[in-house]
Amino acid sequence: MRRDDLDTPALVVDLDVMEDNIRRLQSYCDEHGIRLRPHIKTHKVPAIAHMQIRAGARGIACQKLGEAEVFAATGFDDIQIPYNIVGRPKLERLARLMRQCHLTVAADSLMTVRGLAWAAAQAGQPLDVIIELEGDIERAGVHTPEEAVTLARAIDEAPELRYRGVMIYPSNPESRPRLRAFLDALAAAGLPAEIVSGGGTGAAYHSHEIPELTEIRVGTYVYNDWSTVKHGWCTLEQCAQKVICTVVSRPTPDRAIIDGGSKTFSSDGGLPMGHIIEYPEAAIYRMNEEHGYVDISRCARKPEVGERVTVIPNHACAVSNLHDVIYGLRGDRVEVIWPILARGKVQ
Ligand SMILES: Cc1ncc(COP(=O)(O)O)c(C=O)c1O
Repeated sequence: MRRDDLDTPALVVDLDVMEDNIRRLQSYCDEHGIRLRPHIKTHKVPAIAHMQIRAGARGIACQKLGEAEVFAATGFDDIQIPYNIVGRPKLERLARLMRQCHLTVAADSLMTVRGLAWAAAQAGQPLDVIIELEGDIERAGVHTPEEAVTLARAIDEAPELRYRGVMIYPSNPESRPRLRAFLDALAAAGLPAEIVSGGGTGAAYHSHEIPELTEIRVGTYVYNDWSTVKHGWCTLEQCAQKVICTVVSRPTPDRAIIDGGSKTFSSDGGLPMGHIIEYPEAAIYRMNEEHGYVDISRCARKPEVGERVTVIPNHACAVSNLHDVIYGLRGDRVEVIWPILARGKVQ
């Protein structure tokens, strides 16, 4: 099968580009003695994670328990969940999963820690725990070094848990003073962090500027997307994930409609909603579920109905969650079709 035989919208990955992305970040990490723990939220495909491990990565990160269940079932033995697991139904699943693979889980509150201790008791084995520190995006995470010490002590004193260290997201160089303050307070309390886990594609190649990091969780680097291009974190040529769409309508001279909308791309990432390779001057400016609105007023040559276009999505991870399969292309040839096994695992 060839690229042109695929019905649209079709999610594809350029295998040469993806393999290069995997190699490049792994070499950087090897050079600087940092452990790379790929975050599988970007592709959700066990076969790709196995490629990352074969390239030298050690362990994976899964954002959700449901993703971790899929990856544990496909042979991954070292899984980190950098997310608070809260509530009885998930804690019961966590206890079951602990019997299948080695897990490290993050916590940022005593409530989460108590739940993790309960799950570990059910599993009958100790659970490794890291503390989530609040990063620059002000999302989850303990806010002050004092809170981190209190939490580390609670984990350390729980017989069911093993205190292992900390995580932060994103680990951009500007966050180093903040990270240092947390690490110093923990060390002064006799609770030094053995694991210091950073993350984020934008921060990845700056990780050596934070020598405290022992590992980084990086997801988007494997595919890249239009957001990483816009941020200057990669080039257009380093984008591996694409969606092939068909122009299905040309209602006015300046508007084209493609057969991919929010059910194909999500509406993440602002305007323009992706980049059309064949028509770089075009702008996807709105999406309904199955319609992508494209402003083609600045295009010298305009796409015709029936023409196929290649879109680099705004947010690769969200796109992976919307498709059943991804077609691996070697040049124009479809070399492999991977089911996106962990798509939709939001619980
Ligand atoms: C906790 C955590 N770690 C790592 C990552 C990976 O970030 P990126 O996809 O930018 O590499 C994410 C992404 O959302 C995250 O939330």
